[in-house]
Amino acid sequence: MFKHVIDDNIELRLVDMDHSEEMFKSIDSSRKHLRKYLPWVDITKSSDDTKAFIESSKKQYAVNNGFNAGIWYKGEFAGVIGYHDINHSKKEVSIGYWLDEKYIGKGIMTKACREFIDYAFNTLELNRVEIRCAEDNLKSRAIPERLGFTKEGVIRDGELLNHGYVDCVVYGILRREWNR
Ligand SMILES: CC(C)(COP(=O)(O)OP(=O)(O)OC[C@H]1O[C@@H](n2cnc3c(N)ncnc32)[C@H](O)[C@@H]1OP(=O)(O)O)[C@@H](O)C(=O)NCCC(=O)NCCS
Repeated sequence: MFKHVIDDNIELRLVDMDHSEEMFKSIDSSRKHLRKYLPWVDITKSSDDTKAFIESSKKQYAVNNGFNAGIWYKGEFAGVIGYHDINHSKKEVSIGYWLDEKYIGKGIMTKACREFIDYAFNTLELNRVEIRCAEDNLKSRAIPERLGFTKEGVIRDGELLNHGYVDCVVYGILRREWNR
């Protein structure tokens, strides 16, 4: 099983069926915090739904199309970070993420993103990494901004969330710009 230690507290582990209960509990306890920007939260009603996500994530990994990792903080499940499907012809990928409400404000996701960007450029040999955030999702936008991404534009009605369409900010970084 893929496992990557970031520092004394944070570890990334390729999502696995063994994590389904912890992942579901985490989603279930953070619904209000997560559902504002993640439309799949409301249809995640039991650990079977989490298992379906893990199953599709394993298939994505098996066909070399990217993967999702659980983020573990001091040995506890804290959230997920993942690549959306890789665009192999353009050598680009976008990254998505969420944290259990208990673990926000500690820099965990910025550190996890740094590893995912590094892996995208140096191991997957991609050329561009993108992060898209709802315009008013300031905590999410702060991550690409902290990591040196360029704000490339705004897609009007770019995301359909639970409360309706929102504009979506596109951030990008190129391999030649990445300086860990
Ligand atoms: C988006 C989300 C993951 C951001 O979480 P976050 O905790 O703000 O992000 P980080 O883990 O990178 O932590 C950054 C915070 O820790 C602080 N911090 C502490 N040590 C830090 C360090 N070493 N490095 C960076 N930041 C650090 C920062 O100052 C910042 O706090 P602030 O917002 O009070 O300024 C979280 O809000 C979330 O899960 N939201 C709901 C789901 C969602 O919106 N997903 C994204 C959809 S695009």
